[in-house]
Amino acid sequence: MEPTEKIWFNGKFVNWQDATVHSLTHSLHYGGGVFEGIRFYNTERGPAVFRLRDHIKRLAYSAEALQVEIPYSIDDLCRATTELIAVNQISEGYIRPLVFFGYGRLGLNPQDLPVETLIACWAWGRYLPYEMVDVKVSKYRRISPDTTVADAKICGNYVNSILAVLEVRGTSYHEALFLDASGNIAEGPGENFFIVENRTVVTPPEGAILPGITRDTVMELARGEGLKVMEEKIPVERAQAADECFFTGTAAEVVPIRSIDDKTIGDGKPGEITRMLQVEYKKLVTGKLDSESNYLSYVKK
Ligand SMILES: Cc1ncc(COP(=O)(O)O)c(C=O)c1O
Repeated sequence: MEPTEKIWFNGKFVNWQDATVHSLTHSLHYGGGVFEGIRFYNTERGPAVFRLRDHIKRLAYSAEALQVEIPYSIDDLCRATTELIAVNQISEGYIRPLVFFGYGRLGLNPQDLPVETLIACWAWGRYLPYEMVDVKVSKYRRISPDTTVADAKICGNYVNSILAVLEVRGTSYHEALFLDASGNIAEGPGENFFIVENRTVVTPPEGAILPGITRDTVMELARGEGLKVMEEKIPVERAQAADECFFTGTAAEVVPIRSIDDKTIGDGKPGEITRMLQVEYKKLVTGKLDSESNYLSYVKK
């Protein structure tokens, strides 16, 4: 990670190296924080953040799930984000808002602890830098709504994802794939999952997944192209027999899947619909698609 000049920390722009916390910070011990992952892209009108407000609204949802009161409004955080990009003068990259319980006391109850809020950004290339990925079904099941608020981006929830990523590290697989508690495909450690069957785009329903903003965007793009989109349970065998499979996510964008547990999907090449969605997504995020969506927040110079 290449440091940028500033991090927005509790309402102020502080130098990158000074945005530090005490080692007894509560969230560092128990994972009780909430975060977002957002991308901004270089467009003809300068840097623009993709679906900023939707991401910040999801941050607020995650905070509510953990009963954290963010001391800033959604407008404040959106403004701070675009200002930060302007201050750091980078044209394209990743944004990480994080809200967490600070230093004060340990013990699980976070009541009355200071709430710390930061936003950092940096230039960040592709998260899965491969033309296609080979995935392995994880031995860990995805966190379920019975054990946590599974559709919130709570820091501690991500230990589940870290374990799955560690499982494929050093193997020939590029990424893991989670099943849900009932044994159907849920999603990747940081990506939503899709299949294409007879030109119908299918993705697992909400419940045991993080309802991704890229997932929502890709469903909208597919519908806009006249494709049928469905949310249905997907057992592994159904995905392995599909014409195409792909991942979506802010960090990963749209990534074709070549194989699941060594079973090649289709002819092992990126599928036609996956490719089309990849291209349309890239056009949308970089302001090259005629769209009434208002998804781009431009950074004022
Ligand atoms: C577990 C998980 N699933 C899916 C996604 C994709 O969500 P989004 O498209 O909003 O980035 C992410 C990334 O935030 C994630 O962490």
